[in-house]
Amino acid sequence: CTFADTVARIAADKSSVPGGLVPALHSVQEALGWIPPEAVPIIAGAFNRSRAEVHGVVSFYHDFRTTPPAQHRLGICSAEACQSMGADRVLSEAERILGCQMHEQTADGSMSLEPVYCLGQCAVAPALTVDERLWVRVTPERIAEILDQTRQ
Ligand code: FES
Repeated sequence: CTFADTVARIAADKSSVPGGLVPALHSVQEALGWIPPEAVPIIAGAFNRSRAEVHGVVSFYHDFRTTPPAQHRLGICSAEACQSMGADRVLSEAERILGCQMHEQTADGSMSLEPVYCLGQCAVAPALTVDERLWVRVTPERIAEILDQTRQ
């Protein structure tokens, strides 16, 4: 089924519920990873709202993504224990290699760089995640190798 079918199904499900617009947008984001611009008119139609109104709701909530997510997600722990063990140097090296800053993604959309806050690995800091995989005692020298493994 196409993305438009998915959006239409979600919108139809939620449009009968009072206050269903925001939950519908959340469900679309869960299903597609973001809210494509093409989803807005479909949702607006189902909820009997204007496109501008739906667009307004999407832009109001910072949780809603209006650009596609990167293929992989690098999460660098930005909490205290990791900071004290050199997480900022790991971050600088990751930014240099990826050519993007924290909260951004690479130009080719292969990786996003995001802060995470304590992965429960303070004793083996600094820690990071690449998608679901956890890495500990990370040094700036290891970042390139970690990223290479993900991109293979
Ligand atoms: Fe980074 Fe706890 S502060 S894992």
